[in-house]
Amino acid sequence: MSEYKQDQVREHSFDGIQEFDNRLPNWWLWILYGSIVFAVGYWVVFETLGAVPGPNGRYALEMEAAMEAQLARMAGGGPRNESLNLMASMPEKVAEGRALFETYCVVCHADQAQGNVGPNLTDSYWIHGGQPIEIYHTVTEGVPEKGMAAWGRQLGPTRVQKVVSYVISLRNTNVAGKDPQGELYQMTVDEENAADELNSEDAGESATK
Ligand code: HEC
Repeated sequence: MSEYKQDQVREHSFDGIQEFDNRLPNWWLWILYGSIVFAVGYWVVFETLGAVPGPNGRYALEMEAAMEAQLARMAGGGPRNESLNLMASMPEKVAEGRALFETYCVVCHADQAQGNVGPNLTDSYWIHGGQPIEIYHTVTEGVPEKGMAAWGRQLGPTRVQKVVSYVISLRNTNVAGKDPQGELYQMTVDEENAADELNSEDAGESATK
């Protein structure tokens, strides 16, 4: 280090190629140190603290708002297949539904809804129908003679819709448990696409905003 000389060729050579041992220019070093400092700050703000939502976070927020708006537009005529499918595609509603399920339903349907006293809700077989609105009616009105309570009164329609949206999201996930009961319910193409389509419409809208 003591006797630094600009443009001095170093002794070694690789395949006849030799190199200088010059200092990096200051502007280059400043960019390097600057980007290290920036990266640390960026990481702390966006990842560690989550203080500012990143692009994915903002996208999720917009999606959520758009879906809420869509749900509000649908609310008029009471719950329908479309509105229940939409709810089943909203992570927040499904999470709330899951919490309700864990409180009220696991005793009989087991922790993963794989069935216990009550039937397995993760297969494709349904005693009272596998359409979202049919599941909604079963949960609201219950099957008292078989030991399934009418939850409509106890939980109210909003919470029933949430727990149903969780049940919808479990359909055909086939957790090993109680043997299938009832009839095979094949999801219609419309039903499979409904949530996707609604999502992508809203995604398109918000992406062009
Ligand atoms: C005390 C036990 C019990 C509890 C608690 C219970 N269920 Fe049930 N559930 C049953 C039984 C038993 C059946 C089957 C009824 C029949 O055979 O017709 C059933 C059926 C169902 C069905 C219809 C399944 C099908 O194949 O058509 C759904 C959906 C359902 N329950 C959802 C729920 C939800 C959601 C909750 C919580 C809010 C819940 N159940 C709580 C006992 C229970």
